[in-house]
Amino acid sequence: MKITYFGHSCFLLEAGGKRLLFDPFVSGNPLATGVRVENIRCDYVLITHAHSDHVADVETVMKHNPEATIIGIWEIYAHYSAKGYKAHPMNKGGWWTFDFGRVKMVNAVHSSSFSDGSYGGDPVGFVLDTPDGVLYVAGDTALTTDMQLIPRTCPPLTAAILPIGSNFTMDYHDAVLASDFISCNHIIGCHFDTFGFIKIDHEQARAAFAEKGKHLHLPAIGETFNVS
Ligand code: NI
Ligand code: MN
Repeated sequence: MKITYFGHSCFLLEAGGKRLLFDPFVSGNPLATGVRVENIRCDYVLITHAHSDHVADVETVMKHNPEATIIGIWEIYAHYSAKGYKAHPMNKGGWWTFDFGRVKMVNAVHSSSFSDGSYGGDPVGFVLDTPDGVLYVAGDTALTTDMQLIPRTCPPLTAAILPIGSNFTMDYHDAVLASDFISCNHIIGCHFDTFGFIKIDHEQARAAFAEKGKHLHLPAIGETFNVS
């Protein structure tokens, strides 16, 4: 699986012959000024929840990728399909088979509303089962014992993208426990450094994982890397 990091929680995953963009928030990210959101090409846009630091650039991306399909919980689907965008609705616990592989929508412990205050449904995470590997994208979440269900209901994870910045989500100490719950030692961090509330010490975060024999990758914005 090839992954490109666009800052905060925005990643592009290339797997199963398709390009999947997660949580597009680039133009408002003071650290991502080198990324041109208009230039991102994708086949799918997966949305974990409606907070603006996850959806601010959804419509810009969709306008530049008119064939793309949004994947989100029912309320996210309803919001964007009412605006004329192609979207696929899911809800927690369900699988759907797309042309790149299977997706399971899983629980996240957080909140979710659009910037006008309207309801965004529940926040979610995704497990993607593709020919190139299996990836868990946790979304914004606290540590939750529900994560223990993932290795019992999904194929073994190749890697996982977990939030580690604290204040709005779990911190990297809880993310170490989360990596136990999901039986995955290859963790990619997200939701750190973007704002003052979530600035972290990179060396301490890596050390917290290394102490438990696990690997934390803190991607640089614009970096492309492979996980296998
Ligand atoms: Ni959020
Ligand atoms: Mn967030």
